[in-house]
Amino acid sequence: MPSKDLTDRRSVAAELARREAMLEAIGYAATRIVGGGDWQAGIQDLLARLGKAAEVDRVTLFETHRGPDNEMVQSCRYDWCAAPLRPISGDPRYQNMPVKDPDAPVDDEFDDWAHRRQRGEVIQTVRSATTGYTREVFEEHGTLSFLSVPLTASGRWWGFLGFDDCRTERAWTEIEIDVLRTAAALIAGAIERQQTDAEIARQREALHQSEKLTALGSLLAGVAHELNNPLSVVVGQSLLLEEATRDSAFTGRAQKIRYAAERCSKIVRTFLALARRREPEPRPVQLNAVIGMAVDLLGYQLRTSGVELTLDLAPELPELMADADQLHQVATNLIVNAEQALASQTGAERPAPRRLEITTRFDKARQSLRLAVADNGPGIGPEIRSRIFDPFFTTKPAGQGTGIGLSLCMTIVGTHRGSITPSETPGGGATFTVELPLAGLPAPKIMAAAETASLAAEQGRRILVVDDEMEIAETLAEILTDLGHRVEIVAHGAAALNQLKAGPFDLILSDLKMPVLDGPGLYAALAQDHPWMTGKIAFLTGDTLSQRQGEFLAETGAACLEKPFTPDEVRRFVGHLLKPAP
Ligand SMILES: Nc1ncnc2c1ncn2[C@@H]1O[C@H](COP(=O)(O)OP(=O)(O)OP(=O)(O)O)[C@@H](O)[C@H]1O
Ligand SMILES: [Mg+2]
Repeated sequence: MPSKDLTDRRSVAAELARREAMLEAIGYAATRIVGGGDWQAGIQDLLARLGKAAEVDRVTLFETHRGPDNEMVQSCRYDWCAAPLRPISGDPRYQNMPVKDPDAPVDDEFDDWAHRRQRGEVIQTVRSATTGYTREVFEEHGTLSFLSVPLTASGRWWGFLGFDDCRTERAWTEIEIDVLRTAAALIAGAIERQQTDAEIARQREALHQSEKLTALGSLLAGVAHELNNPLSVVVGQSLLLEEATRDSAFTGRAQKIRYAAERCSKIVRTFLALARRREPEPRPVQLNAVIGMAVDLLGYQLRTSGVELTLDLAPELPELMADADQLHQVATNLIVNAEQALASQTGAERPAPRRLEITTRFDKARQSLRLAVADNGPGIGPEIRSRIFDPFFTTKPAGQGTGIGLSLCMTIVGTHRGSITPSETPGGGATFTVELPLAGLPAPKIMAAAETASLAAEQGRRILVVDDEMEIAETLAEILTDLGHRVEIVAHGAAALNQLKAGPFDLILSDLKMPVLDGPGLYAALAQDHPWMTGKIAFLTGDTLSQRQGEFLAETGAACLEKPFTPDEVRRFVGHLLKPAP
């Protein structure tokens, strides 16, 4: 029968044998836990070996982490216990147990332990020395002696490793403490290595994505550049034709051409949004309002496909500094994807009801907003999970998807310095979570054609169009002439300067990229010789803005019209520029 002070009477031989057994457990930990790469696979076995070697009744591994409300909590991740005790790692009472953060006042022994562990201290005690709540817990567990050592991984407190003895109140020997310390250090090393591996994998994946997007960006920029100018002509000319003719047969045909060309323009714009890696245009944005708009736009479509939409929008979200149009694109793409995924399930596969839930939340600690779009559709299979963000990856039939949606979302969220993460909806389906930091980046002001204010155009002004693409220049000239302006056309900046000798213009609309003298060159020459004219020049932007062009536009603050443009956009743009100063 073991006496109360068994430790004291333990023979030297028995002590040595215990030490031997514990070292064996440590050796096991070194090869299995640290050498194996996956510490979780060997941890259970290690805890059992440690427990048996140290002749204790329970060994626990607790992790300290953030709980559901972002507060500090601790959870028992693994434990081993000798019969007849029952494991506690599966018991919900030992998950998400509150832990006082280091700055809060200490009011009992438990809190004090948490603080001491965070400072890296070893804690040991026996039941008779405890009081209050700690005593209650010890009694409930049958614990008589307790020893714990903290775990630090990657410089941060990770949790602790604990021993419980339920048979005797004992003073822990130096050897036991050392062994537990070594085991904790080995586990921490293995955790650290796993964290590093995961981080390297994440960075490699991010680099891979960004390389792919850069390559795709230059390809799209080239294609968009080639398509943009002729498309502006088709859209512009078909509209002019439509407006000019009274014959309904011709109007109908012109309209068909225009619709088709406008569809192409939309695709080109999406490509440009992807290719033009411009910074977003940040303004204070209400995320809930953006969601509201996207839902308004898609509501009808959702209802007709029998989707039950739930909005769980947190009230009074702080404003984001973000590009509202771009966020709108993200929301729309995610909702359309969910709707298409739900609609793809028919017959017995079809979930009843088809559900789509959109949630917004404010994360105070991270100073960010979260948007989650969750569906109960088929979900994303593991075989395609790594590819869904790839440009042009689609599982949809030809004509239904181009595979550009998610890669566009990724680009936009990336420029907003946020993240987008797919996961599984509890119960099945896909959830996409977008996290956006509240702060945005300052960026140059580029006035998109569609954003220009609707204003009545002034008439009878002298306007110079500078563009080496004759069809573009002529289309612009036709639109402006129709408005009653006098329009002249030249092919490059040098010719524009020449034209200025005959007298000033009320407005110069110039391309950026041209032979002989380009847009920025023309601007510089105006600043030198006709400084008052720098307030009267606006630029046409079509393809990818080079960094130099972007900087040029940001510095000068000159207005820009994005190609392809519609006659209506040109009218509004020019009307806005010619408006007399208030
Ligand atoms: N909510 C979802 N549920 C299941 N699969 C999804 C979901 N969202 C995206 N996916 C998968 O990811 C693929 C890529 O999506 P992405 O939005 O990039 O392209 P797409 O929808 O196929 O085409 P596009 O967006 O250009 O019309 C989809 O084809 C689909 O297989
Ligand atoms: Mg899509």
